Amino acid sequence: MKLVHTIEEVRGISRAAKREGKKLGLVPTMGALHEGHLSLVRAAKTKSDIVAVSIFVNPTQFGPKEDFSRYPRTLEKDFELLEREGVDLVFAPSAEEMYPKGESPSKLQSGRPLQAPSLTWVTVEELSDRLCGKSRPGHFRGVATVVAKLFNIVEPDVAFFGQKDAAQVAVIKRVVQDLNIPVQIEVCPIVREPDGLALSSRNAYLSSDERKMALVLHASLQRAQKLFDDGERDAAKIRASAKQAFVWQPAVKLDYFEIVDSDTLEPVGEIDKPALVAVAALVGNTRLIDNILLEP
Ligand code: PAJ
Repeated sequence: MKLVHTIEEVRGISRAAKREGKKLGLVPTMGALHEGHLSLVRAAKTKSDIVAVSIFVNPTQFGPKEDFSRYPRTLEKDFELLEREGVDLVFAPSAEEMYPKGESPSKLQSGRPLQAPSLTWVTVEELSDRLCGKSRPGHFRGVATVVAKLFNIVEPDVAFFGQKDAAQVAVIKRVVQDLNIPVQIEVCPIVREPDGLALSSRNAYLSSDERKMALVLHASLQRAQKLFDDGERDAAKIRASAKQAFVWQPAVKLDYFEIVDSDTLEPVGEIDKPALVAVAALVGNTRLIDNILLEP
């Protein structure tokens, strides 16, 4: 496994692989790797000849009051895990490598006005303001920008993302389509703990009490699934009933519980095609998200 930190090195390797006719798969991550990330790596192994993983805690997708500075960084352990999975290439750039004109990472955080020299942003209109975009202004602009940069740097044939971040998937698919980026997007299912909690690097922040309370996200989604399975198709009714799960967990602050079209992220009325049920909540200071797809 090769570990590189510069754009020049990663380009050299990826272009050489492609000259040999190899199919290159990219798994973009922010590190603190868990089984959810590794499921993407395994999917990449089966669908590409060369697997590259990027590890970069991207400052431009964090708001000024968010957890950029305390986001878990476990680089050595991450490398070990990726080596064990048989990954070919790890790209772990510094903030200066990715944003050379962007001054310090804290100035690069989204929501904070950038001082000159400025940065080119990739903004997906409307989509970026829905779901997490509503409570995290600038978040999806940061995601879209860094993912577009990673696609231009690594030039993968195929890139792997988790359904866990369903809105992120919608945004990235839009970027690829609208900017004609020649990459295929593969979406992999959510990996959960045995009790249903979706794996997340941020679960590391939870105290043992919070860890128990966090199950309410999954419970609310299961409630929605049950109503749907029993024949309910009115999204407003499912939403109203499933949200009730949070009434019993007052220490968890619900951010949103929405039933939306998975491409446009617009609320749906009657569920007559696959609909995304997405939830976000604050458990203590930790923001968690989860979702399911309802498929008629
Ligand atoms: P990160 O949160 O590290 O996630 C990297 C990838 O792993 C994302 O595609 C995410 O959806 C996927 N993932 C996380 N938890 C998962 C789970 N429980 N099951 C399945 N997949 C899971 O998402 C990001 O980083 C960043 O926004 C990034 C795309 C790297 C841009 O900075």
